[in-house]
Amino acid sequence: MNEQKKIGLFGFGTVGQGFYENLKKHTHLSAVIAKVCVRRIDLPRIGHELYFTDNPDELLLDPEIDIIIELIDDAVAAKQYVHTALREGKSVISANKKMIGESLKEIDEWHTRYDATFLYEAAVGGGIPIVHAVDGFFRDQEVLKIRGILNGSSNYILTQMQQNQWSFEQALIDAQAKGFAEQNPTLDISGVDASYKLSILAYHAFGEVPSLSSFSAESIENVTKELIKKAKTKGKKIKPIATIEIVDGKIVCTVKPQLVSPNDELFSVDFENNAISVETLISGKHTAAGKGAGSLPTGSAVIEDLKRLLSGYSYQVSKSKKTVA
Ligand code: HSE
Repeated sequence: MNEQKKIGLFGFGTVGQGFYENLKKHTHLSAVIAKVCVRRIDLPRIGHELYFTDNPDELLLDPEIDIIIELIDDAVAAKQYVHTALREGKSVISANKKMIGESLKEIDEWHTRYDATFLYEAAVGGGIPIVHAVDGFFRDQEVLKIRGILNGSSNYILTQMQQNQWSFEQALIDAQAKGFAEQNPTLDISGVDASYKLSILAYHAFGEVPSLSSFSAESIENVTKELIKKAKTKGKKIKPIATIEIVDGKIVCTVKPQLVSPNDELFSVDFENNAISVETLISGKHTAAGKGAGSLPTGSAVIEDLKRLLSGYSYQVSKSKKTVA
């Protein structure tokens, strides 16, 4: 029997609990949660059998802990924990798109400098295995364009406004209550959250760290009930579309609400669902869709990373550099 790997888990919020619930069903995995670090140790919570602490060093400096899983909201603290863990020789899994999207330059170095593996499937597209697909399958192909819906909350809000005539505010409150929206929902509705996810995909698809300052993001706050009604009378929908492509040798990224027709593969992607369409020179267009936000779907992506980690997988981007054509 394989030796049980010990996990140090940072964060026990929406995604942390989703991971915990998923892990209980994966009893065949040779990994167990040894310690959980939370900000507020006094809060009542599920997971009575777990050991909770509010001291990060109890996890980071514990030689018995092999794997750190970072699922906290604070991007600054997350970066520090991830870096310390990799330096300590521990493998790391994270879901922190803000931290990863903003730190790709350093993460690119970490992938090559440290022997320990760093995976982050849950940072993009919730339960859809898109980072793995882009890094593995599509990295050896010439990717022309990636287009999709990468923010579950903004798609949920626009869907409720379109299908059920909800107000923007009502739909946002519901997206927060369902655990789709960030603690700071401005990141969701402004398109910034989707920009972080696009930058991660760009890094794996093109082998380049794109500059976030060149991204253009437009909020869904300007989408009025009237605009949605007008689209509906034409048989169309307004969707939060994220696009990344190479134009004149440069990576161009945009996130903005756009009118889509019924023949568009993103037309039927509603509520918190996400979809990502990868267009390649040789094998054409491939679209993956599924739940893009929420506790259990995002927690399942963390489990997928854990399985890959246990099987010795690491990202290809760390092994080869593809130059932008
Ligand atoms: N707030 C994010 C979203 C969660 O709504 O898509 C998943 O990354």
